[in-house]
Amino acid sequence: MAVLEGALRADADRILGRYPEGRERSAVLPLLYLCQSIEGRVTDDGMREVAQLLGITTAEVRAVATFYTMLRTERTGRHVVCVCTNLSCALRGANDLLAAAREAVAPDHSGTDADGAITVHEEECLGACDAAPVIQVNYANVDRVTREQLLAILDGLRRDEVPAAARGATPAEDRKS
Ligand code: FES
Repeated sequence: MAVLEGALRADADRILGRYPEGRERSAVLPLLYLCQSIEGRVTDDGMREVAQLLGITTAEVRAVATFYTMLRTERTGRHVVCVCTNLSCALRGANDLLAAAREAVAPDHSGTDADGAITVHEEECLGACDAAPVIQVNYANVDRVTREQLLAILDGLRRDEVPAAARGATPAEDRKS
């Protein structure tokens, strides 16, 4: 099944146009993000199409897709909540946050709730250590999260209410730029 077709193919061409001739393969990450934004994960079909667009092998694309934790190759919920547990966040209670999120979403340790609404994922440093503890909701940071805020965010996500990003554009907004 084609992933990058119609308007999405135009988006992919626009992304490719940002790179100088001969350097198109550097577009592999944004193209994989684009695929993920459609299907919630990067599928084999998506990897194959990105490889064809860039003139590289599917194995090279797969190596990138499986290296970065922000790219998912497994099925996820509609919303992905990443909890950073690196040092700064751990010192500010991130492990308790992660345990609370897992307990609220998937006590069976599957990572995703039964309704397929939310996936919880333990994440490495999100690059905002001064705002610890940090989580990401659908790849946009939310800073200085308390346990109560986290549980409220999870409740909202079940109704598809997504909190505002602490800074910058969300990946979804980026797609329209
Ligand atoms: Fe959590 Fe850096 S340690 S954002």
